[in-house]
Amino acid sequence: MPYRLPDAIRHAIEESATGVPVAALAKASTELSESYRAPKHHGAKQHVASREQRLAYGIARAPATFGAVSAALEAVREVASEIVVGSVTDLGSGPGTAVWAAAETFPSLESASCVERDGGFIEMGRELARAASYPVASSLRWVSADLVSASIPPADLVIAAYSLSEVDPDEVEGIVERAWAASRVALVIVEPGTPAGYAAIMRYRSRLIELGAHVAAPCPHSDSCPLAEGDWCHFAARVDRSSLHRRLKGGEFGHEDEKYSYVAVTREAVTPAPARILRHPRKPPKVVELELCTTEGLRRGHVGKGQRDAWRAARDARWGDAWRF
Ligand SMILES: C[S@@+](CC[C@H](N)C(=O)[O-])C[C@H]1O[C@@H](n2cnc3c(N)ncnc32)[C@H](O)[C@@H]1O
Repeated sequence: MPYRLPDAIRHAIEESATGVPVAALAKASTELSESYRAPKHHGAKQHVASREQRLAYGIARAPATFGAVSAALEAVREVASEIVVGSVTDLGSGPGTAVWAAAETFPSLESASCVERDGGFIEMGRELARAASYPVASSLRWVSADLVSASIPPADLVIAAYSLSEVDPDEVEGIVERAWAASRVALVIVEPGTPAGYAAIMRYRSRLIELGAHVAAPCPHSDSCPLAEGDWCHFAARVDRSSLHRRLKGGEFGHEDEKYSYVAVTREAVTPAPARILRHPRKPPKVVELELCTTEGLRRGHVGKGQRDAWRAARDARWGDAWRF
């Protein structure tokens, strides 16, 4: 099933765009895409500058980042089903996208803090929280601050989604260290599924391991990444598009695939998945071929029709899923 922004939030975003011509929103959406695709995407850069661009972000980007964060959080819940997440801090929250994903994944969520420097996004986030039906929405705290100097509110779960890539590279390590210090249970960092996004995730992962964090997902291990140079670990979250979303992007399909890279670490050791599926499984007749990252490095798995339970699991297996031998 594709990920889908909760209806109340989606409707509230689209309602706040009432009266703004679709052409202006489509233009703003194109400007955002171009800004994110620019070679200098990683680094201190503010991509969203106008009301139209914030609305375009809410309509055409937030559904995708919501999907990516939800998928990363589900991977954590899968390997650490015992964790209880009562609070979340969302770093570079935009309109609070990661909080909604956390509320969907962890119904135990009671309180949340969003740290964001853009006043327009904070205003939009407040409006959306009024429309949202999650219990956490009524206790959402907005911290208007720059991540570089902000004191990070401690929480069970800290999330930085698509935000660290907008920070001056010289400042990011300090933010990751403070984010980890603020994480009582887990820290999840999500970046675009590009070579640059993956490289950044690998730097954060190394530093977090040095600080004593335990890798929960996506890696089955805390060793160095076995991928060959030039390759990059990323996944795809299928995301539902509303009709306005489609009109902004000029797309015909009712869905899109959001590519993302991520690392999730925990304070207590967890047993990660024994293997992670790194590509779309190939399914020629009577066999499923899986490219896997395992505790022993990269491995190609073949599951034949005769292998009963494994066959059933392999037929349904998707890129990014955990794989159990
Ligand atoms: C691409 S948006 C991601 C928003 C949200 N996390 C999501 O996943 O949809 C990046 C957000 O990070 C915020 N941001 C970037 N650098 C920041 C900084 N130094 N301090 C606070 N917020 C920052 C931007 O204002 C923007 O709202």
